[in-house]
Amino acid sequence: MKNTRISDLLKSTAPGSDVTVKGWVRTKRGNKNVAFIALNDGSCLANIQIVVDLASFDEALLKQITTGACLRVDGKLVASQGAGQSVEVQAASIEIYGTADPETYPLQKKGHSLEFLREIAYLRPRTNTFGAVLRIRHAMAFAIHEYFHNHGFYYFHTPIITASDCEGAGAMFTVTTMDLNDVPRNEQGAVDYTKDFFGKQCSLTVSGQLEGELGALSLGRIYTFGPTFRAENSNTVRHASEFWMIEPEAAFYELEDNMELAEDFIKYLVRYALDNCREDLEFMNKMWDPELIDRLNFVVNNDFKRLDYTEGIEILKASGRKFEFPCEWGDDLQSEHERYLVEEHFKRPVILINYPKGIKAFYMKQNDDGRTVRAMDVLFPKIGEIIGGSERENDYGKLRARVEELGMSEKDVWWYLDTRRWGSAPHSGFGLGFDRLLMFVTGLGNIRDVQPFPRTPKNAEF
Ligand code: 4AD
Ligand code: MG
Repeated sequence: MKNTRISDLLKSTAPGSDVTVKGWVRTKRGNKNVAFIALNDGSCLANIQIVVDLASFDEALLKQITTGACLRVDGKLVASQGAGQSVEVQAASIEIYGTADPETYPLQKKGHSLEFLREIAYLRPRTNTFGAVLRIRHAMAFAIHEYFHNHGFYYFHTPIITASDCEGAGAMFTVTTMDLNDVPRNEQGAVDYTKDFFGKQCSLTVSGQLEGELGALSLGRIYTFGPTFRAENSNTVRHASEFWMIEPEAAFYELEDNMELAEDFIKYLVRYALDNCREDLEFMNKMWDPELIDRLNFVVNNDFKRLDYTEGIEILKASGRKFEFPCEWGDDLQSEHERYLVEEHFKRPVILINYPKGIKAFYMKQNDDGRTVRAMDVLFPKIGEIIGGSERENDYGKLRARVEELGMSEKDVWWYLDTRRWGSAPHSGFGLGFDRLLMFVTGLGNIRDVQPFPRTPKNAEF
């Protein structure tokens, strides 16, 4: 076979065959007579060992085989005599595709810090850690589609360029083709967006939910899975300016159904990782987080605690703990509060529901008490909020009143309001932050290390 992946070769039970392998040199060691090259092609964590009989090769060629160089090796797959691998390749010929000068190539054999690797994000996929993270990321994306496909949810594409601010936080990136040195202005002196490309002010989406609801109110069950953008100046380990979100939305789901879906979905994903990414997870467990696999198993095997926001506040206030931020009824919970509830009080994931309406978005279903909404946040160990969602307000009058109360412009959400005029239905949904899920599954503590090319304030390199 012309392009055999190392992951397949390592599973081979047919030593003796002629093989061709292509990949990047991780290490070269050896003695006067023989060199051992560890070659990796990204298909799996493990390298294949190439055994080179020095007498049969040109010295100039051998000198070019250094860490980072890219090679093609033709040879025989043989049972390995050394420990650590069952098969290896006895090289018959070697072609060098690309050299990597040891004086300049930044990824030498020694372990590098995650901080250093962030500065060379264009090369870090070649490390064991990022190879593992990116393979796990792929597996999770695949499992997401599999889960929803098997549960009757249709993949629904919502626009990335939009004129509506779903979360109402005003944290959006404007999309414009206007000349910023010569911006058209109207008679009041304000920017005249009617002259802009779309004829109105448009931005990168913060969430596909509003359009997703249109899908749910026609196809029944849908999910989105795509990039979202937030122009918040949050410099934390769990905020990125560009991140991926999964947003299921389902007609006839009430808050209870929504909670059940969220718990089942996230357990499915974690179980999928445990079943399908074992080698990479064991590596992450060994290198970065010795409790990782135990924590993943715990989440899969235990019920999430469901709790009212109001009770949560009472627990926090009774904890005697000095928090950095206040937590009176009506305050938004900070990650320190969320983590106290999850890691110290309940010692399991928590689904917190019925938040004060003042700290949640306009679209959430209002409870009869007049002060809370049918919101739900799923709180996770080490992460805090991993999911945010709610049952949606399906009453036209109430929704319109809330839009007005918040000073939102009806002309931006007229189409959304219209869905409550014709064939309105109870429905619910949530958003799972894909990158936060990856932090949880890989055990890494910084969102910048689970995205191939993170975008954060003042950082858009690569
Ligand atoms: O809680 P959020 O803002 O909810 C929504 O956007 C709803 N429209 C979702 C819905 O009901 N369909 O965001 C949902 C999740 C959060 O729980 C978090 O995991 C993630 O998205 N998230 C971020 N992840 C990384 N960086 C950021 N800046 C994030 N902001 C939110
Ligand atoms: Mg939220």
